[in-house]
Amino acid sequence: MPLTHTRDLFTKALKGKYALGAFNVNNMELIQAIVEACEEEKAPVILQISKGARQYANPVYLKKLIEAAISVTNIPIAVHLDHGDTVELCRQCIDEGFTSVMIDGSHLPFEKNVEVCKRVVDYAHKHNCVVEGELGQLVGAQFDEGEHGGSFSKGGVYTHPDEAVEFVRQTGVDSLAIAIGNSHGAYKFKGAQHLNLDRLTAIKKALMDASLGDYPLVLHGASSVPRELVEEINRTGGKLGEDAAGVPEADIEIARRTGVTKVNIDTDLRLAMTAGIRKAFLDNPKEFDPRKYLGPARVRVKELVRHKVRNVLCCAGQAFD
Ligand code: 13P
Repeated sequence: MPLTHTRDLFTKALKGKYALGAFNVNNMELIQAIVEACEEEKAPVILQISKGARQYANPVYLKKLIEAAISVTNIPIAVHLDHGDTVELCRQCIDEGFTSVMIDGSHLPFEKNVEVCKRVVDYAHKHNCVVEGELGQLVGAQFDEGEHGGSFSKGGVYTHPDEAVEFVRQTGVDSLAIAIGNSHGAYKFKGAQHLNLDRLTAIKKALMDASLGDYPLVLHGASSVPRELVEEINRTGGKLGEDAAGVPEADIEIARRTGVTKVNIDTDLRLAMTAGIRKAFLDNPKEFDPRKYLGPARVRVKELVRHKVRNVLCCAGQAFD
């Protein structure tokens, strides 16, 4: 079975009122865990690859691993570039057959962001690929820490509903990543902070009122940073800060019902994998066969993804409809 187009996954998700998990991948164990979980849950899935993942694993390895995943399963799988930072990188991924790319011009002034996005959209649409843009600024690092470049915003800037309409109209992007208090990583909120779900509702409404329909929105930084994983990592020798905190899963649930169609998850996968590896070493300090610690870690990632697709994103059972 070839790749399934991101466009088709979005169309079905919007109709079925569920969200798609977009899980970041950079090695074999992550890809296997995510795909096996989604296969068991009969869930469609987006595997997303960042610039840092391409630098780490080599684009050819990732492509071949995903081809292998597709050949051993029949669930719909789309491949997405996460946080493309240049038109050239987006073009490369489009040429390699990605079904969607993100061009992240969120740190640029509005007009410049539009210009860069439009260039990617023009190329992508000629080559059967769809594009995610981003408007507003997430708090903290915009790209993952393994990458060169990127940008960091201290305060974050919420996406303005009217600007979202203008941005979608002027660029022709197929989906829009929004900033509503979300951020990447394991330290998202202080105290009882939350996502600004009212702002999400206002953005969705503005797009609808502007006759852009049930327009697909994307939520970056959607990891929930489960307390039990943080505690397990620290019990087994880790030193994660007491202030590690993610987006409550109840918020993601509301975001899904309000109209977020793609939910990006990376940090939670990292935490599950780290917890699995640390526990394996603690249980058996003499072990040095990578299969004996990567294997259990893969199982932990798989359990986490099963939970997300079944209980949070509600895309379980939607693979073949
Ligand atoms: P998390 O750090 O919350 O997993 O977010 C990942 C993400 O948004 C990737 O683009």
